[in-house]
Amino acid sequence: MKSLAVLHASQVVTLGGPKRPRVGTEMCELTIVRDGGMLIRDGKITSVAPSDQIEKNASNAEIVDAGGRIVLPGFVDAHTHLVFAGNRLDDFERRTRGESYEQIARAGGGIWSTVQKTRASSDADLLKQAKIHADWFLKCGTTTVEAKSGYGLTLEDELKILRVMRQLNEETPLEIVPTFLGAHAVPRETDAAEYIKLVIEEMLSRIAREKLAEFCDVFCERGYFDIEQSRRILTVARQFGLKLRIHADQLTNSGGAQLAAELKTTTADHLEKTNGQGIAAMKSAGVQPVLLPGSVHALGLSDFPRGREMVEAGLAIVIATDFNPGSSPTPSMPMILSLACTQMKLSPAEAITAGTINAAYSLNRGNKIGSLEPGKFANFSIFNCEDYRELAYWFGIPQTHSVYVRGRRAG
Ligand code: NIG
Ligand code: FE
Repeated sequence: MKSLAVLHASQVVTLGGPKRPRVGTEMCELTIVRDGGMLIRDGKITSVAPSDQIEKNASNAEIVDAGGRIVLPGFVDAHTHLVFAGNRLDDFERRTRGESYEQIARAGGGIWSTVQKTRASSDADLLKQAKIHADWFLKCGTTTVEAKSGYGLTLEDELKILRVMRQLNEETPLEIVPTFLGAHAVPRETDAAEYIKLVIEEMLSRIAREKLAEFCDVFCERGYFDIEQSRRILTVARQFGLKLRIHADQLTNSGGAQLAAELKTTTADHLEKTNGQGIAAMKSAGVQPVLLPGSVHALGLSDFPRGREMVEAGLAIVIATDFNPGSSPTPSMPMILSLACTQMKLSPAEAITAGTINAAYSLNRGNKIGSLEPGKFANFSIFNCEDYRELAYWFGIPQTHSVYVRGRRAG
């Protein structure tokens, strides 16, 4: 593959720094190269430097003129539910009439309604819709997403979703990191005990054997899976070699953050209702919080997770979209940056760190993506602005100019 030289960026926002997730004041250090450039060979970055220096070594390279715009690492969206059928427009409209997420779920909407549509959908139709979603992510400047199953809830339907993810990973430039979320809800045709037995005794072994997932997640919440059930599922998942994530304390403070700390999960996600004790427990266990302000916004709620406090406590926080049809129908990391700054009081720099390098580490890929440094994949986006803070500041307007994955134009 030919080499590529990116020239004349107002800022190359490299996120260069220590080879680990960033904490405390490190989250503000973006390591920016002004009037910067980048040299790329075989899909990997070979150097990042002022533009004039890059130009001197670019004689045989194809030139990408950033034209005074900013260049950032591709966003790493560490929490999505990317593969599902249909939408939840009725839930959305019911919420405008004041019904809550839990009320709507009891009344026949919610996760279960998406499960029914996803089960009825063929592999080909699911893949077709997932490709549309993948294109949205790329258009917003995201180059890697974690994607959860969880709208199948039978062995065959969960396998179907995970195989669609594998195919999506092969057929689109978006990189997919698969997570098994069989414990997303108890399907209506069975009871909790029987379903958990199925997850533990059949689904996990099959998924591990076929290497269809890297992580296992559980929706630990009132009416879904309680602490004891979540502990059992995650413990068995770990025995099968999966790494762990958990939906914790989203709607109620049920001790999910403490469970994450006890099991030393890689991440604990949501955390809207987590208190100071939960924050301290995650800190001592080295759990990375994944905060999802898009779901608070889209559900019309006001309790955002305590992101500022978590940064002050020294946690390596991540922000993500939680893209899903029910509680967070957005693929846009710039929208999440805006919410992180306005509602959780992160600085624009902290929000960018949380959506790139910290997110990459939470997906076990901190050595390959999440920053623009020699040796890493050339996954980057060019945005139509001069200052990185504009990404979080202007909202509701797409600012993406172009997106590259492994040195190739992808959006
Ligand atoms: O992260 N909390 C559970 N899962 C999703 C919602 C899924 C849905 O409503 O379809 C979430 O918010
Ligand atoms: Fe989620």
